Order: sequence, then C-alpha cells, then structure tokens
Amino acid sequence: MTVKVTTTVNGRQVSGDVEPNTLLVEFVRENLGLTGTHVGCDTSQCGACTVHMDGKPIKSCTILAVQAEGHQVVTIEGIGAPGALHPMQAAFQENHGLQCGYCTPGMIMAGIGIVERNKGKTLSEETIRAELEGNICRCTGYHNIVKSIAAAARDM
Ligand code: FES
Ligand code: FES
Repeated sequence: MTVKVTTTVNGRQVSGDVEPNTLLVEFVRENLGLTGTHVGCDTSQCGACTVHMDGKPIKSCTILAVQAEGHQVVTIEGIGAPGALHPMQAAFQENHGLQCGYCTPGMIMAGIGIVERNKGKTLSEETIRAELEGNICRCTGYHNIVKSIAAAARDM
C-alpha cells in the first residue's frame, strides 16, 4: 500500500506515492532525485542527511516522508547555486572546509542552523564544536569546517 505525500521542497510543491515507512531522505533522493542529501549511517548519528524543515535543521533519516506533509523542506540544492553560493557554501569553499566532501552537505545545512540559532551572540569555536556534535566527518576534517562556519557567521 502506498500513500500520497505532498510537501514543499526548495520552494516547489512536490507530491509522490510512497510506502508509509519511506524516510524523508529516501523521498528526497529517490523520488525527487535530489542526491546532495547523503546517507552516512542511517542510524541518526552522522548528520550527512541534514535538511531544513520549516527553517530548522533535521536529520532526514529520522523522519518519515509523510511527516513532511504540508511542511517546507529545504535541501542543499535549495540554498544556493553555482555563481550565487549561500554564504555558508562560499565559506566552506574559501576555507577548504572539506576533504572527501561526503559530510559537507549536512555540515553546511547544520552550520546554517548553528549561525541562525546564535544570531546576535559571539559564535565561539567552542560553541561551534559543541553544536556540531551530531555531525560526523569521517575524514576528521573538523578544523576547517569550524573555521568555515565561523567565517560564514560573519557574512550571514
Ligand atoms: S544518515 Fe541520517 S544521521 Fe546519518
Ligand atoms: S570531508 Fe570526508 S567525511 Fe567529512
């Protein structure tokens, strides 16, 4: 049995017929072809699948596609474009905030959430590191990721 899900992804209303147990990350990648959102662990630990729902970062492997019904979802494809990068994307590029790049979409989506949650406060390296606890970089390249988020915080 499939169910119909209708949601807004990157500003566009989309619908699909999914199994009731389809995860949001599967819907985004397989039904919509938005493969920038990655699956790293499937057990809610790595954050590679981070997207925004109603403006807040969530791990899209932890919620069902049907739970996105009527909500606003934004994936890495929805925040910037070549030649018009989001300040967080530009900061990752400038500060070389990546090694293999597998964790990068999730880090960028989480990073935007960190900066927005801490608007008006000084964003220390310690805070960035603590807030990134749910995002794992298997290349262990945290230093430049932290630098990138700090740089983006100055531009956002
Ligand atoms: S794939 Fe979702 S947290 Fe790892
Ligand atoms: S850059 Fe390779 S997993 Fe983070």
